[in-house]
Amino acid sequence: MKKMPAFSLPWRRRSKNPSQMESSATQFYATWDAVARFAQEIRASDFMAEMIRRRDAYGSEGVMGALDCATLYGLTRWLRPAVVVESGGFIGMSSAFILKALADEELTKAKLYSIEWSEECEHGALIPEELRSASGGFVPMRGKVEDLLKRDQLPRCIDMFLHDSSHSYRHMLWEFRQFWPRLRDGGLLVSHDVQMNAAFPEFVAKTYAHDKKTGRRDAKRTSHYEWGRWGYIGFAIKKVSR
Ligand SMILES: C[S@@+](CC[C@H](N)C(=O)[O-])C[C@H]1O[C@@H](n2cnc3c(N)ncnc32)[C@H](O)[C@@H]1O
Repeated sequence: MKKMPAFSLPWRRRSKNPSQMESSATQFYATWDAVARFAQEIRASDFMAEMIRRRDAYGSEGVMGALDCATLYGLTRWLRPAVVVESGGFIGMSSAFILKALADEELTKAKLYSIEWSEECEHGALIPEELRSASGGFVPMRGKVEDLLKRDQLPRCIDMFLHDSSHSYRHMLWEFRQFWPRLRDGGLLVSHDVQMNAAFPEFVAKTYAHDKKTGRRDAKRTSHYEWGRWGYIGFAIKKVSR
């Protein structure tokens, strides 16, 4: 049996016949379809109902809403990452949906490094026990993103980064610039609360290169494959130029 690599480009992995790939303009139709399908599945699930019950019992202030959790789950399942880093872990609503996606894809070796600065919050408290302990996939890291990066305590090569810490324009842009180079080809930059300022659209705009004649995206020199926004989640799929 052919062994599935720990991480491979999802649109290549899921295509049964690579010679019949869609044109580059519609290459990602299947991505949107898959993410929407996974998101729909989790929204209607008992897991979602249980997480909302836990969140409401704990107090929902500052945690990710149901629509965005579903999108995050869909993106994670579609990507099948081995290494995920999230900033702003807090009580773990977003973490729970990432871990659930990893479990549903049977990625038993995958790791979620969850960064939380506040000593006051119970980091990851909402995460169901079976997801937290299943494979040791949840790795809580107490500290400021800035300090952990300075001390070189975070993985240098990652498949997915979720921003959900401080939502100031400066900090968001700073995190995108710090973690984008660590993402591998086909890796996902995900941000929560992209509506709060112009950081996400500005960052994405800078990844474009344009063809002089047509004024359209020059796919070869552009450093993303696709990007989008759903609810308050923004995402960009990184492309490494060869
Ligand atoms: C919006 S909440 C995160 C919600 C969480 N993702 C969830 O869905 O449950 C933001 C969190 O980011 C943390 N935070 C803010 N700035 C940070 C920084 N520079 N480094 C690490 N954590 C930070 C805050 O302490 C807060 O708990």
